[in-house]
Amino acid sequence: MSAAKNKTEKNRGVSGRDGPQWYGRRRGHKLRPNRQALIDTLLPELRVELPETGKLDLRSLFPEPVRDVWLEVGFGGGEHLAAQALAYPEIGFIGCEPFINGTANLLSLIDRDGLTNVRLFDDDARKLFPVLPDASLGRLYALYTDPWPKTRHHRRRFICGETVDVLVRLLKDGAELRLAHDHMGYVGWMLEHLTRCEDLQWRARSKQDWTAPPTDWVETRYEKKAKEKGLKPAYLCFVRGSRNGNE
Ligand SMILES: C[S@@+](CC[C@H](N)C(=O)[O-])C[C@H]1O[C@@H](n2cnc3c(N)ncnc32)[C@H](O)[C@@H]1O
Repeated sequence: MSAAKNKTEKNRGVSGRDGPQWYGRRRGHKLRPNRQALIDTLLPELRVELPETGKLDLRSLFPEPVRDVWLEVGFGGGEHLAAQALAYPEIGFIGCEPFINGTANLLSLIDRDGLTNVRLFDDDARKLFPVLPDASLGRLYALYTDPWPKTRHHRRRFICGETVDVLVRLLKDGAELRLAHDHMGYVGWMLEHLTRCEDLQWRARSKQDWTAPPTDWVETRYEKKAKEKGLKPAYLCFVRGSRNGNE
């Protein structure tokens, strides 16, 4: 990276004047016509639009009443999100993913399974967060978000001081924050940032609690590839404490 670009990046930090800077991919190979058609027709129906002022009314996003709203940051191909939405039809799901090919794949799963409880934000989740009301999410997944292994890129990591504060605001009392990763450097980083937050409790009591997935776990595409390479993921589940000071 050139010195000038590096300097700009340092000055910008996680959230610059124009909102968070996106460093990941937005596009891969050219979409097949049927996938492009889903982007052109189904995505506009399911897209969460940012309101010009105020906060979003999350429950009104869904055609049927929902018991709770859960959000996935970086759903990739959407296999996990679609399977969770099928398993929990009474929950409204919001998936955030700027990678258009991933969004097209999730749309194909929504179409195939006739899912009505999924809405999409096809951009950086950090742009959506400011318009989400306090204590509005019952669960948040961030699975295998990019590890940015180089030290000079660590500030790009999704879990950082800034997002931890935001997640604590958005999660309801008792809500679950589910994270997974196979990159142990990033796992250590996430634990460092999350365990120092008094409003989040890591429920693991033994190694088994973070080396085995939760019972309703659905393997993600990235996770499958990591396991095929012999890597062992860590599953980190945190619970948001009560705002009244009682657990
Ligand atoms: C390594 S992939 C993993 C995808 C999927 N979760 C899986 O496990 O197969 C990481 C994904 O997170 C997305 N991502 C990272 N940070 C994000 C953010 N702030 N908002 C939305 N998506 C994000 C990236 O675009 C990328 O598709």
